[in-house]
Amino acid sequence: MKIQIDEGIYYLNILHSIDDLEFDLTVTKENAEVLFVRSRDLKNVRLPKTLVAIGRVGSGVDNIPLDWCNKNGVAVFNAPGTNSNAVKEMVLWALIESARHPFQAAGALIKNPSEAGKIKKDFEGQELAGRTILIIGMGAIGSRVAKMCRALEINVLAHDPFVKKENRNPDALWIESLVDLESELKKAGGHWPDFITIHCSLNDQNSGILNNKFFRAGVKIINFARAELVNETDLLSGLQTGRVSAYVSDFLPKKIPMEQFLETKSCVFLPHLGASTIESQIRAAETVAEKINDFFYHGICLESVNFPDMPNEKAENGRKRILVINENTPGIIKKVAEAISTAGLNIGSMTNRSRSETGIALNYIDIDVQPNDNRLSEICGKINLINGVIKARICAPYNSIR
Ligand code: MLT
Repeated sequence: MKIQIDEGIYYLNILHSIDDLEFDLTVTKENAEVLFVRSRDLKNVRLPKTLVAIGRVGSGVDNIPLDWCNKNGVAVFNAPGTNSNAVKEMVLWALIESARHPFQAAGALIKNPSEAGKIKKDFEGQELAGRTILIIGMGAIGSRVAKMCRALEINVLAHDPFVKKENRNPDALWIESLVDLESELKKAGGHWPDFITIHCSLNDQNSGILNNKFFRAGVKIINFARAELVNETDLLSGLQTGRVSAYVSDFLPKKIPMEQFLETKSCVFLPHLGASTIESQIRAAETVAEKINDFFYHGICLESVNFPDMPNEKAENGRKRILVINENTPGIIKKVAEAISTAGLNIGSMTNRSRSETGIALNYIDIDVQPNDNRLSEICGKINLINGVIKARICAPYNSIR
């Protein structure tokens, strides 16, 4: 496996999870087969045609060019949930920071140590118990935040259109829709939330969803999801007019200079630290590497971001597996099977799955061959020429038939 691992990723945990001990770390950007990336934006990067998979060592995939990956048969794997505890713990800090401002008070004290008494007065805060929080996005992180807030005696309201009613977390009172939040809140018998925290991934539909509609009554906004989820113009005016009393963000603002926010004295920005713990980086590296190992060597695809799931079954002894990635349209597999039988080889078994959102189908085809049968590479070449086939390759260890 020719792998490229971005700086800062726990590469030993990745290597530990890869079967083949002859992996090649001397790859260049031009010939990598697998790329492990953290937050680096790959959207405007020229990626090599040799790429088989991208491992996003984290959860969000807004830095991955998914359309390009689909067109070029590149599987994307991420590690949702592996950093949910780390982010939850930072939300705990953000709750305290936005209600008590210890970080800002410490900054004031450094500047003026002789003014400790005055600073103490200036920074009188509020307790968390008895307050209300609205959590937007109740996936792995949102659910943990809900549980933590309940333990802190905070009333929890939650919204997530993707969670089915029967799966809703009992730690929260669920809000059906954010369109008319005010009447939803009235129905729930409550006032405007004291805190709003957002925990959803960024996509083409939700950029700027935290906007004026949410900014009222001195609400405190916590954002450990993505900067782009917040409408910055609305936020700045909310902060300037007191409709928002605090903004704690794990990201720098994208459109308006940070200084303008800092002038309101109600904002703290972090350099995207939410997932930056040893534990979550190890979990994420191992989770992604295991998924890529299965896909690369066995054609087994589990929880990919863009490809369908394939059964977790390895090729039976003596069979070699060809993985064909194709557009999900009729007639392609017939041509693939013809190419194999014309070469005089026998298909032992074949498994096909497709994914409607991406229009991609995967097939692993197990063929009865002698261990050194080099017709396989030739056949793969022919399959790759079939109209509608995106990529065909042999799933086998390094230095064997490929
Ligand atoms: C994520 O989406 O999981 C975070 O961006 C993780 C990270 O900081 O790499």
